Amino acid sequence: MSDFQQLSSVGTNYSVILFTKMPPQNLFHQKSKIIVSCPKGLAPWLEEELKESGFNTTSNSHTWVGLDGDLMDCMRINYSTRIGHKVLFLLKDFIARDPKALFAAIKSFPWEIYLPSNGYFAVTSVVDNPTIRDTRYPNLVCKDAIVDRLKSVYHQRPDTGSEKNGIVVHLHWINESASVFLDTSGETLAKHGYRLNPFMAPLQETLAAALVRATGWDRKSPFVNPMCGSGTIIIEAALLLLGIYPALQRKNFAFMHLNGYNPDFVKTAVKNLKRNLTGINPEECNLTATDLSNVAIAAARTNATIAGVDKFISFKRCDFSETRITPTQKGIIFFNPGYGDRMGEEENLALEYKRMGDFMKQKCKGYTGVIFTGNSVLAKSVGLRTKRKIQFYNATIECRMLCYELF
Ligand SMILES: C[S@@+](CC[C@H](N)C(=O)[O-])C[C@H]1O[C@@H](n2cnc3c(N)ncnc32)[C@H](O)[C@@H]1O
Repeated sequence: MSDFQQLSSVGTNYSVILFTKMPPQNLFHQKSKIIVSCPKGLAPWLEEELKESGFNTTSNSHTWVGLDGDLMDCMRINYSTRIGHKVLFLLKDFIARDPKALFAAIKSFPWEIYLPSNGYFAVTSVVDNPTIRDTRYPNLVCKDAIVDRLKSVYHQRPDTGSEKNGIVVHLHWINESASVFLDTSGETLAKHGYRLNPFMAPLQETLAAALVRATGWDRKSPFVNPMCGSGTIIIEAALLLLGIYPALQRKNFAFMHLNGYNPDFVKTAVKNLKRNLTGINPEECNLTATDLSNVAIAAARTNATIAGVDKFISFKRCDFSETRITPTQKGIIFFNPGYGDRMGEEENLALEYKRMGDFMKQKCKGYTGVIFTGNSVLAKSVGLRTKRKIQFYNATIECRMLCYELF
């Protein structure tokens, strides 16, 4: 079964829930299926994160994790996830052979329960149906069906558009299986809001958060990040260690525009997520980031300041081999070197990869060495035996996180 077919079937039980009129104050406590989406390959780490936050996950695929819950749970996930991109709340799943059937099924849903009379909404979709050539068309059908329904109830036309700054409805239609969700996030959660300064080939924040988690770091011992670039890895490590949730800074989520939303709900949703950092001694955090480039170090420092973690990270401009390594029984040293996209680059990089291997072997005893790379040929130049190889994708590039036990 493909990812999409699985997604279309996860919510089947909920198609029987008819959201008959209920007081809006109960709306945020109605249970349904929740799908948290993520980039390809991050689902195991997203699932681990959700479990750590106390959620019972029920299903997963490469690009999403499923669980049962209500809109309050969706809010909490929006605020707490470092790896998820969207939090979708299932409204209805149904069979639709063609656009006509799609229109009828969507129009019959009581959208007025969720959408206010003077609201604005956008529609997004993932579609693979034999009757559809232009995948923008089902979006229009879905939007028109919702508009028709709301016009017949409110006697006024809601505003619609492509901006995801209000309510967002997500249509998932694969073959004949269709599902409609509320996308409770709206704008993607992929950006954590601190990276104003991207420098060179930065990792996406959600990928960096998953990589930090995948190292198995105990969040106490040293975390060293030579070749830090714009600092995404070390900043995500610091945010995790300090229990800072980047989404708490975000002012707008799609769930805030739904009927029945009360700003007081946020207090419940973020309970236990807020940390007071005044008692934490920066010296004890043991987070180090270095880079050969002055510009990279300046960018990483600025980004760390925006993220609120600058004083917990020790930054230095130097060749990676001059990075100070605290002697310890346990710790992580994490490299994300270039992969060599340009002609002639690979030869020089092979020497760098070998130097990294030598440095880890000679200077980092007790640590777990990690190299994240999209070049398996260069990886061989490291010259150390890998203990673990984990597959990831950096955008479309297949990558490996190579882990070395440094005795
Ligand atoms: C792929 S980028 C790292 C991107 C980073 N993970 C991020 O998210 O921004 C590789 C970095 O390695 C640095 N670098 C290259 N050779 C180096 C060396 N010999 N010592 C230290 N840093 C080096 C570059 O300046 C660059 O910032």
